[in-house]
Amino acid sequence: MDKEQKAFHKSRRELLRKAIGKDAVAVIFGSTNFNKSFDGNFRFKQYKNFYYLTGFEEPNAALILSDKEIGKTGSNELLFVQKKDKIFETWDGRRMGFENSGKALGIKRAFENSELQKYMNLAKNRNLRRIYVNISELIKLTGEVRQYASQFLDSLNRLAANAELIDIGYIMGKLRAVKTKYEMKMIGKASDISVKAYYEAIKSIMPGKYEYEIQAALEYNYKIFGSEDNAYYPIVASGENGCILHYEDNNCVLKNGELLTIDSAGEHRYYCSDITRTFPIGGRFTKEQRIIYDLVLKANKECIRMCRPGASFKKIGEVSDYIIADGLKKAGILKDKKDVKKFTLHGIGHHIGLDTHDAVSYTITREDNNDRLKPGNVLTIEPGIYIPGDMTSVPKKFRGTAVRIEDVIAVTGKGPVNLTSHMIKEPDDIEAFMSGNA
Ligand code: GLY
Ligand code: MN
Ligand code: MN
Repeated sequence: MDKEQKAFHKSRRELLRKAIGKDAVAVIFGSTNFNKSFDGNFRFKQYKNFYYLTGFEEPNAALILSDKEIGKTGSNELLFVQKKDKIFETWDGRRMGFENSGKALGIKRAFENSELQKYMNLAKNRNLRRIYVNISELIKLTGEVRQYASQFLDSLNRLAANAELIDIGYIMGKLRAVKTKYEMKMIGKASDISVKAYYEAIKSIMPGKYEYEIQAALEYNYKIFGSEDNAYYPIVASGENGCILHYEDNNCVLKNGELLTIDSAGEHRYYCSDITRTFPIGGRFTKEQRIIYDLVLKANKECIRMCRPGASFKKIGEVSDYIIADGLKKAGILKDKKDVKKFTLHGIGHHIGLDTHDAVSYTITREDNNDRLKPGNVLTIEPGIYIPGDMTSVPKKFRGTAVRIEDVIAVTGKGPVNLTSHMIKEPDDIEAFMSGNA
């Protein structure tokens, strides 16, 4: 881990300490291995809140954090990790070990997991008012920390007699909603990698190819350009498949005259991008496809312009629906503008960061207006129009059409910054690019 990343995670722990305040402690468990089938596991992925605070990518770990020294450790943050073990490391991979946490992560006090219970018990002896825990994640744990997590849960009735027990999700979401320069750089990098991969993959779009061939080209190129993983399972949806929002079969043949919607991106150092583009498979949009495409593009551009500090995200979504309702009505597709949701289906976008749909709140509470955009927010803007083949209320030529255009936008004091602006989206540019696909 480089210095910049270490400093980032350190700053996040400091911020969390401030956010939980005095007389509070946070006990956060990292993720564990999850079974896929029989004796095979899914590839390990760290819990995102734990990653945000530590950058640590091994399973079976926990962090205790407080504004005061914890016990007599001389530290206000303690990391617990799996023990170094020659045999386990030969089978399953290297382990950092508590001895190396200072150098590797910049967290000076670390212990083996077997010490966890002793230090969690310290929580009982202090005059704590609040205990923050990743409750919803803790319930799913497997492996060696599962027993420690259970013991901790068991003891909570006694702890909770003196203190409030609070899930850490909301407070972490508030922190995660505002990205630092380092995070912007990571999302930017994930976006650059994804755009480069898109340009390679879309060279293969032509009638007769299969959706999975485009998916394979994307995934191959994410790796080649420096991404460690998909940000989410790629959606490569031709024709009417585009009307299935989370289509992932990706097993149909591309047909001349149909559209292809690709919604896919890589991640970089756990930070995600999220890009959607829609292409005419034969290289040229039909007149009807172009009408729909232009309308979605208009909504995409107008909503991106609105991503400024102080703007309401809900309102941005309403503007998108307004633009699309107006256009669909003029095109003779929509009779009553109130019914626009039948064509737009989903919201205008979401926060993005360590999660593609970043785990942050959008609600307006008495204390927080999470709908109001702030400098440092990073959002997707992804309007779409979906006209299934059986929508008989719509003129036939428009049926079976799906268009979505999605970009990743950083909200800054100087206005919106489109982190995926280098991915083509003007229809003339797309047609020109695809004329090389013959
Ligand atoms: N790729 C999922 C989404 O756009 O929200
Ligand atoms: Mn999205
Ligand atoms: Mn997407």
